[in-house]
Amino acid sequence: MHPWGETLMFGAKKTALITGIAGQDGGYLAEFLIRKGYKVHGLVRWDSYMDPADGLKRLEALGLTDAALTLHQGDVTDAQAVTALIKAIKPDEIYNLAALSHVAVSFKTPAVTMEINTKGTLAILEAIRILDMEKTVRMYQASSSEMFGSAPAPQDENTPFQPCSPYGVAKLAAYWLVKTYRDAYGIHASNGILFNHESPARGEDFVTRKITKAVAAIEGGSREVLTLGNLESMRDWGHARDYVEGMWLMLRQERPDDYVLATGQAHSVREFVERAFAQIGTTVVWSGSGVEETGRDKRTGRLLVSIDPALFRPKEVNHLLGNARKAQDALNWLPKYYFDDLVADMVNADRALLWREAGGDSVWKMTG
Ligand code: GDD
Repeated sequence: MHPWGETLMFGAKKTALITGIAGQDGGYLAEFLIRKGYKVHGLVRWDSYMDPADGLKRLEALGLTDAALTLHQGDVTDAQAVTALIKAIKPDEIYNLAALSHVAVSFKTPAVTMEINTKGTLAILEAIRILDMEKTVRMYQASSSEMFGSAPAPQDENTPFQPCSPYGVAKLAAYWLVKTYRDAYGIHASNGILFNHESPARGEDFVTRKITKAVAAIEGGSREVLTLGNLESMRDWGHARDYVEGMWLMLRQERPDDYVLATGQAHSVREFVERAFAQIGTTVVWSGSGVEETGRDKRTGRLLVSIDPALFRPKEVNHLLGNARKAQDALNWLPKYYFDDLVADMVNADRALLWREAGGDSVWKMTG
């Protein structure tokens, strides 16, 4: 039998289905719901399922083995299979986290992005309607602050959307599908408009983890230089652990609605770099401009950061800064982590990971 086979957990009260469970948020949400006593099912794409050592590493790192949750091989774009799965599991709650989540990649694979991020959402909404589950299931849709695109900061639920990427456009279409199905069929479906949220489990292609992994490697001597694109982008970075709790809180509300989750503080990529190096006691000094800009160790003059024009996007979102006042008031949601805690958590986790990989006796844990 597959090591992640169909073992059921005992004593669960409610049943939840998480699509995209192998991702950063999927792991933290599964852990959170299991602690709440849920029976958790996860939809996992074939490539993650077939290579569990890699595809399911986040769940494993959180100690979530097949004794704790049930994984199903499948794909959110496969509407019939999604309907059959929902019919079989009869979940009380569905969290749709499955997505092509990398904005830069969405420029290279726009059609696939629309397929997964929009039609995947439609498959779930249609399943709920076809199975007459409008009154028995609640749905969370992972909407994104990327939908705001070039809308001036700060952004909240009333800010007009101006997406700047195929990813943002696909997420916006899914957002509107959720609202439309909610109004047309009375489905309890809510959009969480989440600003960037990171953690030690973040994929290494996203800028925060790319930075923290490189900082740890430079400190450990296994890497020379960190190469980045646009240093000026401003992002409202929170911790994924805080944000999965917000998802759950949205489904506790009597009425479905749409909520921004954000810290209310924005920092540039440049500041993230500086803060991450500061965590290992290194001060970065910058010189030059544009693609010629470099960051060096103030003490030794050693090159630490350089710019690669290939890492710039065809169109950039410059400034995301969220106002989560509505979630604060209605859900009583407030983040516990802010910028400095987040950067420290990520750098320290990557130092510990490197140490462990090098044969040290420290055991990597996702802290926080
Ligand atoms: N990935 C990456 N790699 N980004 C870089 C790099 C680099 O080498 N250098 C600079 N950046 C800049 C990007 O141009 C962007 O402005 C910013 O860093 C953040 O990029 P990402 O970490 O890739 O995240 P994102 O903001 O594009 O998207 C994330 O947040 C969205 C919510 O606003 C993703 O998690 C999305 O899935 C999510 O919806």
